[in-house]
Amino acid sequence: MGSATTNGSTENGATANNQRPAAEAVAYQGERLPNVPDDLVVPGILNLDFEEKLWVPQAPDVWFRPILFNVSQGYFVNLLRVRRSGILSRHRHSGPVHATVLKGKWHYLEHDWWATEGSHAFEPPGDIHTLEVPDGVEEMVTLFHVTGAYIYVDPQGNPVGVEDVFSKLASAKAHYEKVGLGSDYVDQFIR
Ligand SMILES: [Fe+2]
Repeated sequence: MGSATTNGSTENGATANNQRPAAEAVAYQGERLPNVPDDLVVPGILNLDFEEKLWVPQAPDVWFRPILFNVSQGYFVNLLRVRRSGILSRHRHSGPVHATVLKGKWHYLEHDWWATEGSHAFEPPGDIHTLEVPDGVEEMVTLFHVTGAYIYVDPQGNPVGVEDVFSKLASAKAHYEKVGLGSDYVDQFIR
């Protein structure tokens, strides 16, 4: 630690209010830590004009594009594209969900808020809701970060289906195999 100077900063650049030392433009010289997964960068995800075959069909007029399958922490990040109006699903979340709306809008029948273009929504674990895309929205695209599972439920909350990082991964593998990219195309998105 450097000694304090008269203006409150220290020799290594740390200040009394900000203890973060100034970094030099010198890369880390040491060994890479063991067992650290590779970084993952997927360029251009806000530009939706990418190859159609990257969209994985999920239901009629509903597709997703994987960005990250985090099998070691049980979450996934993807783009969801919907080209129809109406009810998409009723579900319960076992973990937290973050949603950033890139295009269109949607809402849950149970809540009075709307997820509109440019909005970010947080859905807490345990929330049970019914997703509707309203009439007049030709296309909705949302970036989702989903931890845990979607547990699809009937109106009383009884489970009728489940989806998680592993089921998303399986359907993406099957689709990319089918369209000629190969099932191992998804490997780049797995951590
Ligand atoms: Fe949800």
